[in-house]
Amino acid sequence: MFRIEEVEHRYGDRTVLRDVSVELTERRVAVVGANGSGKSTFARLLNGLVVPTSGTVTVDGLDTRKDGRRIRAKVGFVFQDPDLQIVMPTVAEDLAFGLKHRGLSKADIDQRVEQALEDNGLRDLRDQPAHLLSGGQKQRLAIASVLATAPRYVVFDEPTTMLDLRSKRQIARVMAELEQPVVVVSHDMDLLEGFDRVLVFDEGRLVADGPPDVSIAFYLELMGAC
Ligand SMILES: Nc1ncnc2c1ncn2[C@@H]1O[C@H](COP(=O)(O)OP(=O)(O)OP(=O)(O)O)[C@@H](O)[C@H]1O
Ligand SMILES: [Mg+2]
Repeated sequence: MFRIEEVEHRYGDRTVLRDVSVELTERRVAVVGANGSGKSTFARLLNGLVVPTSGTVTVDGLDTRKDGRRIRAKVGFVFQDPDLQIVMPTVAEDLAFGLKHRGLSKADIDQRVEQALEDNGLRDLRDQPAHLLSGGQKQRLAIASVLATAPRYVVFDEPTTMLDLRSKRQIARVMAELEQPVVVVSHDMDLLEGFDRVLVFDEGRLVADGPPDVSIAFYLELMGAC
């Protein structure tokens, strides 16, 4: 699926990712690391929102430099800040918005919107103004909007930061049940239970890569937490 080869990324003269080479083929991959270690930049490389300063990123053989549009149709991206993602006045309209211009009939769109409301516990909020939802409800809507487009892969950048315990568990369940492979950036170690692989970033470098228990132990030590 994702192949990252000898990637370096700079914002201006600041190097924030260096010497990153990794191939992601597992169903559940997590990315952890300190604030500013380059996790979001790495996540954005995966769907071409950011293209590397040097090196290459390919998704199913497509290069993010050349095939950004096709890759973004394949790789759904859930932002940390749902306000970046919510664009329409009501919850149902916002869900429908992402489904337009995809060659779907009106009936198909309506059906997918109803399904997304149902699957994500948003039915009661159907006609509510999206901008008046609570932070956690907005985050659920942002996730629902991305999943409604049925992407081949889903990248989540800290999807649970605003959520209460119940919503967190609900999102964890949604993730566990997803058929698509996912890559999740998270500071929430509980969310990573059952993941296949955890990458640890530190100052722009990939410093650990392995099963959750091994990588998380490495990360906690790095953070001086044990
Ligand atoms: N658009 C940008 N322009 C300039 N610098 C940026 C930009 N985005 C991120 N950076 C810088 O790149 C570095 C890595 O940022 P990134 O957002 O990838 O870190 P992160 O690991 O996701 O952090 P956090 O845990 O706080 O979300 C930081 O030093 C940040 O200030
Ligand atoms: Mg981040």
